[in-house]
Parts: sequence; C-alpha cells; structure tokens
Amino acid sequence: MPDPVAERRGAYWREGVLYQVYPRSFADQDGDGIGDLEGLIAHLDHLEWLGIDAVWLNPITVSPDRDMGYDVADYTAVQPCFGTLETVDRLVAEAGRRGIRVLLDLVPNHTSDQHPWFEDARSARTARHRDWYLWRDPSPGGGYPNNWVSHFGGPAWTLDEGTGQFYLHSFDPGQPDLNWRNREVAAEFDRILRFWFDRGVAGFRIDVAHGMVKDRLLRDNPPASAEDPPRIRAHGQRMLYNFDQPEVHDVLRRWRRLADTYNPRRVLIGETDVADVERLRRYYSEGDELHLAFNFPFMHSPFRADALQAIAEATQEAMHPHGWPVWTISNHDVSRFPTRWCGGDPRKVRCALLLLLTMCGTPVLYYGDEIGMPDTEVPFEAMLDPIARRNWPQRKGRDGARTPMPWSAEPGAGFTRSGVKPWLPLGDWRACNVADQRADRGSILWFTRDLIALRHRLEDLHGAEWDRLLAPPGCWGWRRGQKTLVALNLSDSAAVIDGVAGTILIGTCPDRAEMTPAGRLELRPWEGAVVALGRSEPQADRRG
Ligand code: GLC
Ligand code: MG
Repeated sequence: MPDPVAERRGAYWREGVLYQVYPRSFADQDGDGIGDLEGLIAHLDHLEWLGIDAVWLNPITVSPDRDMGYDVADYTAVQPCFGTLETVDRLVAEAGRRGIRVLLDLVPNHTSDQHPWFEDARSARTARHRDWYLWRDPSPGGGYPNNWVSHFGGPAWTLDEGTGQFYLHSFDPGQPDLNWRNREVAAEFDRILRFWFDRGVAGFRIDVAHGMVKDRLLRDNPPASAEDPPRIRAHGQRMLYNFDQPEVHDVLRRWRRLADTYNPRRVLIGETDVADVERLRRYYSEGDELHLAFNFPFMHSPFRADALQAIAEATQEAMHPHGWPVWTISNHDVSRFPTRWCGGDPRKVRCALLLLLTMCGTPVLYYGDEIGMPDTEVPFEAMLDPIARRNWPQRKGRDGARTPMPWSAEPGAGFTRSGVKPWLPLGDWRACNVADQRADRGSILWFTRDLIALRHRLEDLHGAEWDRLLAPPGCWGWRRGQKTLVALNLSDSAAVIDGVAGTILIGTCPDRAEMTPAGRLELRPWEGAVVALGRSEPQADRRG
C-alpha cells in the first residue's frame, strides 16, 4: 500500500529535492583522509537545514577501487573505509529522523574482476559462474570478437590468457560485464535489491541502467559520423548494439515490480545516458519502469537559453503522461556546472541554480552545488580516475569534480583533520566553503536554501502544469501553475519581458526585490527571477 499522505501531497521524489553525496569526499570523520558514513551522519544537519528530501550515495560497497567503487567485489558488504552495515543502519535512521531518505547506487552492468563470481568464472571454461559473464573466442585472425570500444578508451574486450577467451568490459578491464541473459544473474540481483530495501534503503540510482543487456549477436557498431555529437565522435562509433537494447526494459520492469512490493514503495532512478529525450521516455514506459531517468542531453547542453529551452520542452513533451523529468547540472562524471557552464561568474551560478530548482521536474543537486563549488585542478600525479590515467592528456578525467567538500576555512577545510592528506587535493577552500557562506545571508548557499524553501512552499512548483513564456532572444521563461513565473536572462545585454505584473519572490540580484510598476520585467544581463503573478497575465503560449 502506498503511503496515503505521500500520495495526496505527491511523492518526495516528484516534489522534493534530491542531493548526490560522493561519500569519499563528503566528510572524513575518522581522519584517514577519505570521507565516510560517520562523516555524512555528522553533516545531516546541513542537509536538513538546506531542505533536502533524499540523498543518493555513490557506491559504498566493497571494491578494489579501480573505478572508485563502481567495480563491486561484494554487493552486500560495506567498504571498510566507509563504515559497516551497522553504520548504514544508523545513517538510514538518523537521516529518517530528519525527513531525509537514503538511496544507494546499484551497479548491475558489471562487477569487479575481483568479485568471487568473476574469479570463479575465469578459473575454467566449465566453471560454475562462467556464463555469468560474456566470453567469446578470438575472431579467426586471433583478433577481438567485435569492434566495440570501452567507455574508458581502447577495446571493450580483454583476453583471459588462462582460458583463451576474451571477456567483455564496457568500462575498465577490471570491470567485466555481467551476462544479463543468464537467469541466475537476475535472481541474484533480486536478492541484492531486497537486502538493501529490507534495511530501509529508499531506493537506488542504477548505474548504466541503459546498458545491462547486449545485442545477442554482438554485432559490430557502426562508425560515428561527422553529425554526431562530440561525445559520440570521441568513441569513433555509435554504441548501437551494446547500449539501450530493448531487453534492458525487461530488467527494469522486473525491478519496478519488486520495488512496488515495499511500503513505502522504493524508488528507482536510472543513469540513462541515451541519445535523445524520445529514447529517454521509454525508460518510464507506462509508468512501470524507472521513476526517474537522468537527462544527459540537458546536462551536456551549452548554457544558452535557446539550447536549454529546446531540450527542456522536448523533454516535457516526451514525458507526457507517464514520465516525470529529473534535472541535474553536475555529477561525479562531468565538470561541475560553476566551471563548465558559468566560468566562475557568480551571476551565472545563481541563474543555473534558479533554473534547476524551479523547472518542472525533480532537481538533483551534487554536493557542493549549493555553494557554487567549482572544479579543482588536480595534478596528473594525484589523479586516480582510470579515464585520466589511461588517456592523459587527451581526456582529463573526472577527479576535478570529485574533490573534498569544503566545510570551513580551517586547515583540512573541515573535511578532514588538520595535517591529514585528503584522498584528492582540496580546492581553494578558503575562497569557497560552507561555514563562510552560512555566515553571509547574501551568499549562494542561502540563495540555494531560499530556492529550495520556495519550491517546497509553492504549490505551483509541484504540479505538471507548465507553459512557455514568450521571451526575447537570450532569455528563457516559463509559467508554473496559475500564478508563478520564472524568467531568466542568459545573455550579456539587458532585456525586458513585457506584460508581467506581480511580485518578485526571489531573484538572482538580491538588491532588486521590486518589480517595475509598469507591468514589465526588466532583467539585467545574467539575471533571473521568480515572480508571483498579480493583476495582468503574461503572454503565455499554452502547451499541452
Ligand atoms: C557510470 C558511473 C561512472 C562509472 C561508470 C562505470 O557512468 O556514473 O562513474 O565510471 O558508470 O561503472
Ligand atoms: Mg574517513
């Protein structure tokens, strides 16, 4: 039975704000330089103060860390540097007392090569777990079984000398892909999901949710063409046969049925890095697959009004009626938005936060977004990401977006003890940290908190009602519900939006709380505002 209160008010994962915690970098309680679950528990008050409804934690399970936890060696035990199962239980309880749910990361596409399943599988062609992975003979000339490439660079196949066959790895060679056509694999994952759901975990973010099942014939991928986006051109091929296969949806439907047997129902959020929003829609299906499917075209868009608007509107269109959009502007795999989108300009940072938190759909903040934390320069010697270590200097890797949370201006940034070397270098923590921003009512941190509070308070920001506003070039605006309007000027020149009368509820320029009396909204360069509409109506162009 679904929770009736949540049903009436709408679920937290639709109306609330989610927050991604990268556990290694959130807070180090035991002083080993690596963030841990005790550190997270100790900082739950920050998340409660901010108004967060749920956290998603990157993997906390046992791993040799070839890919920072995404190479799992035991799905139901906690990596010792993070804590124990008992710490997870306490985290769930302590977060729950503050109205915060805990979601974990599930990594079903591949395991670590040090997982006992793979260690057994590679021991002999006849091994018990052999068929749990994808093995193929060398092609007649002795070459790779097909032309697939790894996301981390190089071929997606590695020869296992001992048994003379190649195994598939869509990522690092230390991450062999599971064979999802094997029923025992599926049954084992049901058990893993239940294990965590039974402990009170509220749901999962599913890693590579569009990737689990591969083409049965392992057909070659077609080459990338000049029209493909740079992300595809970089791989030299369209990943047509190893990702986004129809059978993936069977797995997701199976998990959705399982998640729905719990009370409250558990939530599934997918990492669905697919080509366009029309393909994205399929991951919601008839409302019987994922609750939320991450929107990569939006995150990878340039920070331009026309580009963002086009993707947002296509998403809105595609989602109807079963889907519900989810928006992210940073995560552990890409450059942080204050660097990538804003070049460090605080006006732009505020605009990005304003749009993220007032769009129609669920916003997900990445730790540090709330203070406008930029990327950190990480010297090559300090880099741990396999992407950087393999492809330097062509690909810079992801470490710069994964550095420790700056909590204060003290030595160690309040992340770890003074004198302890953190696992990745600290950024400029004296310039940007939580404590200093908390002491400044005009800071980005308070702005983020005010936006979240507004989102919780305004009914208009909860529903699916959404209308495009006619706005001059460089501007983007929309109306939510009956009375709430959002307008942004993402350009270097001042702009006017006519026919708007009302009161500014929150704006990126703190010195401007008043509307002009003439029914016009004047926006400075890189200014945005949320307006409670009064007398006259905006020129809204009604959409389905
Ligand atoms: C996902 C994760 C990324 C990881 C990869 C392989 O894309 O977000 O961090 O490297 O999967 O598991
Ligand atoms: Mg620690």
